[in-house]
Amino acid sequence: MRRKLVAGNWKMNGSAGSIRELLQGILAGASEVSAVELAVFPPFVYLDRVAQQLEGSSIVWGAQNLSEHASGAYTGEVAGPMLNDFGCAYVLVGHSERRTLYGESDQIVARKFAAARKVGLKPVLCVGETLEEREQGITEAVVGRQLQAVLDLEGISSFADAVIAYEPVWAIGTGRTATSAQAQEVHAFIRAQLAAQDPVLASQVRILYGGSVKGSNAGELLAMADIDGGLVGGASLDAKEFLAIAKAGC
Ligand code: 13P
Repeated sequence: MRRKLVAGNWKMNGSAGSIRELLQGILAGASEVSAVELAVFPPFVYLDRVAQQLEGSSIVWGAQNLSEHASGAYTGEVAGPMLNDFGCAYVLVGHSERRTLYGESDQIVARKFAAARKVGLKPVLCVGETLEEREQGITEAVVGRQLQAVLDLEGISSFADAVIAYEPVWAIGTGRTATSAQAQEVHAFIRAQLAAQDPVLASQVRILYGGSVKGSNAGELLAMADIDGGLVGGASLDAKEFLAIAKAGC
């Protein structure tokens, strides 16, 4: 049985004050959604505060990115071992904003996935097609290629502790959610690609959906057979909304 995971990707939002308040709100309601695992992904500079505030709670945290390198002359980058110093459980790799705005190729993303695993961080591998790609009918080819790059570098066993997030680019921050059937179709495709190499492991990997998830649409999405939670952007900045999404997964 896969425990659902509802993860808040705060992106480049928040301040020391707003984050304290947001976490207070989430902590206040967390016990009511304990069937679901909750995780938050703050900007790097707030990880220390988040760690202090969440220490001893049921909520875990992670980073939005990491360097593929463990240390060295890489100005402005943050390495996996540093994230361990702040108690991160997870790290996002290959978010579409990293792929499109910062030129992260499938190979770079695969190396980041490897760098995370090497230091015991659970990678959340983000995959997803653009609107143009969907309209061209190449969604599965694109998502399959993104997944395959990691399988080629790290092998199927590397997914034992990993999470996958399917985030159609056209649904991110647009208010336009994939229908539950559209999402389920891609989730099933992802699981089948893993199952071709290891059916048991594939049945255990959590695949999250991301893209305009809100309290009002989470129930339908999280009810689908291969949707094991949500990677939530905008709505994760509001404690009530974030908890409503988690509630939908209980
Ligand atoms: P939104 O929920 O704001 O659409 O963002 C989704 C996302 O990119 C999460 O990683």
